[in-house]
Amino acid sequence: MKRSILAALGLATSLAVPVAAEDIKVGLLLPFSGVYAALGTEIETGFNLGLAQYGAETDVTFEIVREDTEVKPPVALGKAKKLILQDKADVLVGVVSSGVLSALRDMVHGAGVPLIVANAGNDEATGAACSPYITRMSFSNGQVNRPMGAWMAQQGIKKVFTLAPDYAAGHQMIGGFVDSFTAAGGEVVGQEFTPFQKTQDFGPYLAQAKASGADAVYVFYAGGEAISFVKQYDSFGMKADLPLYGSGFLTSPLYVNAQGEAAEGIITALHYAPTIDSGPNAAFVGAFIEETGRMPSEFAVHGYDAAHALIEAVKTGATDRATLATALRQVRFEGPRGALSVDPATNNLIQPIYVYETVAGEGGLTQKILAQLPAEADPINGCEMAPVSN
Ligand code: BEZ
Repeated sequence: MKRSILAALGLATSLAVPVAAEDIKVGLLLPFSGVYAALGTEIETGFNLGLAQYGAETDVTFEIVREDTEVKPPVALGKAKKLILQDKADVLVGVVSSGVLSALRDMVHGAGVPLIVANAGNDEATGAACSPYITRMSFSNGQVNRPMGAWMAQQGIKKVFTLAPDYAAGHQMIGGFVDSFTAAGGEVVGQEFTPFQKTQDFGPYLAQAKASGADAVYVFYAGGEAISFVKQYDSFGMKADLPLYGSGFLTSPLYVNAQGEAAEGIITALHYAPTIDSGPNAAFVGAFIEETGRMPSEFAVHGYDAAHALIEAVKTGATDRATLATALRQVRFEGPRGALSVDPATNNLIQPIYVYETVAGEGGLTQKILAQLPAEADPINGCEMAPVSN
């Protein structure tokens, strides 16, 4: 990275050798503190691995400027402003929380800077608030939960109690599940949304679920909240009578070993599991283990695929914000999770969803894939895609 190397040598880039026109500045905007800090670090690890893996396919060099969103929308807004106006980033990569993505949408769209979403599933960002500058390399909240509603109904589950944190992602993930579960004949017998980043004791909510008459509980929790929820669910002795289901963020390989035996038997669905049996996934898992000594998670894949997409865009000759935004919308490649393409109607990914059970394996907990559900495009959800302006 020419500028980074010059900076490390203490040379002001403007006084040293001219910066090559094909340098691209990436603003990496992730939580490095707060409840999703581990997710941000994992995305960064995947992103760096992707740049190392695919970077040789182009002469372009990448300078990374990293900023911590702290999972706080106002903080993220200030950091995005700095990256766009002061650092003059050519492209932003990141954002974990749906709340943060919603706060950034107008600034990114107004500035005309491409944002590769490396996690946040906010449905609106590829729905009514879609933008030609916002392209996902992750998932949408509805997309990872809708298939599970129909699948659970097919397994004979009739009554469900749902739980999730009280913010955009919690409502959208549960909404996607409930729509398809009820359409398939299921009944939701109770719902609770727990204060986001504030709930430490899930006891009162678990007591409600137990008393609800449900056959099963369906939840969305991620990061630190997923660890404490799964442990408390088990220590309340609920698992045997009331099986626990959810989106796969609940039992992510990133923290499933911190949940330990409490996670065994939980069935979840997601767009990635490290046990997917394919050549591209085996190569990715091998490279990730070599780098970190452990299995990758979905968050690592988002970072890795974001780097891959950026390099694919750059290979078309894109060098500035407008050309990068246009090229990013057209990338397609075979990645660790399967064949990926961007839906031109929404800029969300079209990708398969995997249902898996967390089971004990030789080296700790692992993901036993029960079903691969067909790749689905999101409904347009009010998206009217504007053209990229120069
Ligand atoms: C979200 O806020 O969109 C989100 C956060 C963590 C995991 C998945 C989704």
